[in-house]
Amino acid sequence: MDHSVNRREFIGTAAGMAAGMVLPEAVRGAGIGERDIRLGIIGVGGRGQHLLGMMLRQQGAQVPAVCDIVPQRADQAAEIVAKGRGKRSETYTKGPEDYLRMLQRDDLDAVVVATPMQLHAAMSVAAMRAGKHVLSEVAAACTLEECWDLVRAVEETGKTYMLSENCCYVRECLMLKNMIERGLFGKITYAECAYVHDCRVLSFNPDGSLAWRGRLHVDFIGNLYPTHSIGPIAQSMGINRTDRFASLVAFMNRPEGHAKYAAERFGKDHPSSKIKWQAGDSCNALIRTEHGAVVDIRYDTSSPRPVVSTTHYLIQGTKGVYVFDGQRIYIEGRSKANTWEQSLRYLEEFEHPLWKQWGKEAGDSGLVGGDYMTTRAFIEALRAGTKAPIDVYDAVVWSSLMPLTAASIRAGGQPQAFPDFMKGATTRKSS
Ligand SMILES: NC(=O)c1ccc[n+]([C@@H]2O[C@H](COP(=O)([O-])OP(=O)(O)OC[C@H]3O[C@@H](n4cnc5c(N)ncnc54)[C@H](O)[C@@H]3O)[C@@H](O)[C@H]2O)c1
Repeated sequence: MDHSVNRREFIGTAAGMAAGMVLPEAVRGAGIGERDIRLGIIGVGGRGQHLLGMMLRQQGAQVPAVCDIVPQRADQAAEIVAKGRGKRSETYTKGPEDYLRMLQRDDLDAVVVATPMQLHAAMSVAAMRAGKHVLSEVAAACTLEECWDLVRAVEETGKTYMLSENCCYVRECLMLKNMIERGLFGKITYAECAYVHDCRVLSFNPDGSLAWRGRLHVDFIGNLYPTHSIGPIAQSMGINRTDRFASLVAFMNRPEGHAKYAAERFGKDHPSSKIKWQAGDSCNALIRTEHGAVVDIRYDTSSPRPVVSTTHYLIQGTKGVYVFDGQRIYIEGRSKANTWEQSLRYLEEFEHPLWKQWGKEAGDSGLVGGDYMTTRAFIEALRAGTKAPIDVYDAVVWSSLMPLTAASIRAGGQPQAFPDFMKGATTRKSS
């Protein structure tokens, strides 16, 4: 079935509007049904092993194959599977291309891609072209070319592709989305979001050489990890549903954090202290939507700060405002005049249907339940044969922030248009 047509038909319906981005969309063919779902995992480092644990909590999820360039990690993962399912996964550890051998198996329905970000798009495309559905870790892609490759692979293979954006499934984010859809904030006019997380320690291997996160700051500039911040905001604003991101402008400051950290940790004569960092410590961008809302988004992973919360969100509508920091809410006519309320007191009335349904199992499974919910949503979509709730169009629009902020910075802050990945299929009417 042609995806864009399917989506266009779907988003015009009341059911589509209610489903938004977090529930499976229109039925697109026979699903896997109740039989076991067979998964392979590419990259079983920190995140891959965590997602493996989440998958093993899903009923009927089997993991017959895992792949990593570090054999010890693949063995650890295979052992986790042996404990959970009574049979070890087969391991693929013969180098960076060995995942292609795993993809040749005809007993895998889907793969989870949890390798370094620079590899996600190529691996996801290869998986879909080998007939596998994909759950990809964030971000989906690093360049616009990769974004288009993903769109083409989904449209040409008809496979289900989902971005594993767990922040979208955090209980408070889903409550906010529910409140917005029920009109509590009126029309959304403005939002702020940020990923501000001191990750300097993760940029280096113990010997001081660059780890993949550090390499990002040498090879790229701009917002290098946009989806945790933009995902929940985009879903609350109906991006790709009732509005679309039109353009952005971006600036970055100079890089200081990594160099200072490397000199202090490894010594000023160590090669890591001589690295020429390209990405500034902070990238700040403003996005304009087609319907005239503005989103202010920031990224900073190389400045010192305590890890209390790694994300920041604020949503402003014509009737009220929600601020995640301090869990504050103000609804004109409902809150006491000129007074903040504690937002979580709205949970009873505005708990999202998904949290009512799966919340107990999700518990605090990582990122306040978001990890369980994300993997469950993927499994449910495969079983039902629906499109993924965070589909390839969401994935590439959110991930394109990385190349678009870079392009704007290089052009001295000039606006950059978002590519129309959905080829005009976004519903244009106001939310
Ligand atoms: N959603 C979240 O909250 C969240 C949290 C952490 C990380 N992530 C994402 O998950 C991904 C992995 O992050 P991580 O922290 O686990 O990193 P990691 O370095 O711990 O794990 C990556 C793994 O991929 C393996 N790998 C590298 N190249 C490979 C190849 N060609 N074939 C097979 N395996 C290969 C590495 O050996 C390593 O084990 C990243 O994209 C990151 O952005 C997401």
